[in-house]
Amino acid sequence: MVKAVVAGAAGGIGQPLSLLLKLSPLVDELALYDVVNTPGVAADLSHISSKAKVTGYLPANDGARAAFKDADIIVIPAGIPRKPGMTRDDLFNINAGIVKGLIEVAAEVAPKAFILVISNPVNSTVPISAEVLKAAGVFNAQRLFGVTTLDIVRAETFVAEIVGKAIPQELTVPVIGGHSGETIVPLFSLVTPSVTIPDEKYDALVNRVQFGGDEVVKAKDGAGSATLSMAYAGYRFAEKLLRAVAGAKGLVEPSYVYLPGVPGGAEIAKKTGVDFFSVPIELGPNGAEKAVDILGDISEKEKKLLEKAITGLTDNIQKGVVFATKPA
Ligand code: NAD
Ligand code: LMR
Repeated sequence: MVKAVVAGAAGGIGQPLSLLLKLSPLVDELALYDVVNTPGVAADLSHISSKAKVTGYLPANDGARAAFKDADIIVIPAGIPRKPGMTRDDLFNINAGIVKGLIEVAAEVAPKAFILVISNPVNSTVPISAEVLKAAGVFNAQRLFGVTTLDIVRAETFVAEIVGKAIPQELTVPVIGGHSGETIVPLFSLVTPSVTIPDEKYDALVNRVQFGGDEVVKAKDGAGSATLSMAYAGYRFAEKLLRAVAGAKGLVEPSYVYLPGVPGGAEIAKKTGVDFFSVPIELGPNGAEKAVDILGDISEKEKKLLEKAITGLTDNIQKGVVFATKPA
């Protein structure tokens, strides 16, 4: 029996993500938590004739604890989104506290759950989550994932446009690093099947993957950031993980993890100098079974992108750790 929780379930990402999870044959129970509107969203989804039993919870009556209790997988898109002119780091002051509070509950009532953090700034909210879980004595790096899948989805789409591939999903485009601007490092030299990006298009393509989020924020013109593509991306990662946990082999997807706690990750952390970093992760029954080291194979241009990414990431990680560990 698989119990999935969405925290932030009434939001722009939360609702379509909950819909996709409701449709998944891998989910038996779906608990929706938000500070508003979950009774309505749950009632609505509960009429769909797929197998998952849907329940909605609000903060009243210890709703978060009830929602999270004994969850197998908790997906967190709770928190405010960007408006034009904002960076993801501008969301830190509000979202850091929201994520911290939710992870505290998870640590208490679902200490073995796989936790997928979508709330921005992911570069900092994942270190915050790790510190909260550590403080509660239940941290297992193989079970904590920062969801960077939208960067991969965008890279697949934008590369396919350039190389003329009809079905973008048939491309595997590794994207490593973090999830904001220059911390996002697309590796077009390692796309499979291999592609040739014309030199004159390379910089613009890198920029579009790194700043794809801004494209949506601008187009939505004050009404938020990516929600539908993110719901797809979050579901894609969650579903892959659930399939891997159920025994499917050979499933790999990049994710932002605490490298020293994932097999194979310590070596990568040594090379990059940062502990939190997104690399392709082999998924399996324990979650992140292996961090795959592809750094030795990247091009000279990609090495330069990586250097910049690491500088930004170092500050973002430090900010999260300081926030989570400061005395109350
Ligand atoms: P939204 O405002 O539409 O929804 C957020 C939801 O969170 C709201 O329903 C709100 O009530 C709820 N919420 C607030 N505080 C809460 C709490 N303490 N507990 C539970 N729920 C709470 O925003 P959105 O567009 O869905 O975006 C959500 C977050 O996801 C933002 O931080 C955004 O930046 C981030 N995001 C991340 C990615 C990614 O690639 N990782 C992509 C898109 C958006
Ligand atoms: C994205 O990449 O679309 C998200 O991180 C949301 C944002 O703020 O851009």
